Amino acid sequence: MRRIDLRSDTFTLPTKEMLDSIPTADLGDDVEGEDPTVNQLQSMAADMFGTEGALLAASGTMGNLISLLTHCRRGDEIFMEAQAHIYYYELGGVSALVGAIPNLIPGDRGKFTGEQLEAAIRSPDLHYPVPRLVCIENTHNRGGGTVWTPAEVGDVAKVAHDHGLKVHCDGARIFNAAVALDVDVKEYMRHLDSLSFCLSKGLSCPVGSMVVGDKDFIAGATRARKMVGGGMRQAGIIAAPGIIGLTKMVGRLKEDHINAKRLAEGLNTIPGINVDMDAVQTNIVLADITETGWDVDYFVNRACKIGVQVFEFGATKARFVTHYGIDSVDIDDAVARLRRLLGH
Ligand SMILES: Cc1ncc(COP(=O)(O)O)c(C=O)c1O
Repeated sequence: MRRIDLRSDTFTLPTKEMLDSIPTADLGDDVEGEDPTVNQLQSMAADMFGTEGALLAASGTMGNLISLLTHCRRGDEIFMEAQAHIYYYELGGVSALVGAIPNLIPGDRGKFTGEQLEAAIRSPDLHYPVPRLVCIENTHNRGGGTVWTPAEVGDVAKVAHDHGLKVHCDGARIFNAAVALDVDVKEYMRHLDSLSFCLSKGLSCPVGSMVVGDKDFIAGATRARKMVGGGMRQAGIIAAPGIIGLTKMVGRLKEDHINAKRLAEGLNTIPGINVDMDAVQTNIVLADITETGWDVDYFVNRACKIGVQVFEFGATKARFVTHYGIDSVDIDDAVARLRRLLGH
C-alpha cells in the first residue's frame, strides 16, 4: 500500500536534478564568502526580492533567529501574532537567545491589522521595554496557510515604521502566498525590513533557508549566523539544490493549492469531518473531526495504519499539507481511504 504523507511540506524529497547538482557544484569556504554556488544563490534571492543582499541559513528557525538577533537588543519588545511560529514552535528562542519579550496580538487566522498594532504599542515610559520589531508570518502556519495581501502587510508596516519599529516577515512559505495571489514577492518586500524563507518546504530542497534585506541587515545577520554556529563552509552543496528550487519549483506550488482545495472538498463529503473552505488558501488543510466522535490522536493513528499520514492539530483538528510528490490521484485515494476508515 502506497503511503500518502500529508504531514508537512517539510517531508518533500529533493528532485533528481537537485541531487545531481550536488556533486558538480563549485565549492569554496562560505564563511570567507568564497563559495561561488552560495554566492550565486544569494544574489539570485536578492534579485527576486529586490533587496541589497541575501544570506543562506541552515533552517527557517535559524533564519528567524538571526533576523531577530540583528534587529533587537536584550529586553526589547517584539510584536507578533499570538500563534506565530516564532512564538509557538521555535523553543522560546525569542527570549532564551534573543532576550526579547514577545507582545502577542490576537489575530484572525494569523493576521492582524495596523489598527491592532497601533493599540498594542505603548507610549515610551521608563517602565516599559523598548518596542523594536514587528513580526508577521506569511503564509501563516497555524492560521491554516492563510495569505496576507501586500496591502495588509503595508498597513501593518506603516504603523510600525511610523513608530520607528522594524518589520520582519517569517516568510517560510512566502512563495505560496505570492503564487496564491499571483503577485511578485517584491510587492511584499517593499514594506519589509527583512524576510526569511525556506528552501526546504514547498520548494523541495533538502536543507536551507534564506534571509533577505538591505546591506546593513545582511552584515548583521552574517555575524549573528556565525555566533549561533551557522557559519557553514562548503555550503554550495546546499545552495546548488536551492538554485534549482528557486528556478524550477516556485510556479508548481499552484498544483499544491489546487490539490489542497480538492482534498478539502473531498474531506467535507465525509460525514463527521468539517473543513472551513474559506481558510483553505494555499497548501494547508485543517480538518475538524469533532463530529466523528473520535479523539484526534486516535484518528491520526488509525489514518496512519491505512497509509494516510497527517499531523494532529490541537484538540479537535488534523492538519493535512499538500506538496511536491503528492498528486490528485493521491488526494482522491486518501479521501477514499478515510471515508472507508470512518465506515461510510
Ligand atoms: C511559518 C514557519 N516558520 C518557520 C519554520 C521553521 O522552519 P525549520 O523547520 O526549517 O526550522 C516553519 C517550519 O515549519 C514554519 O512553518
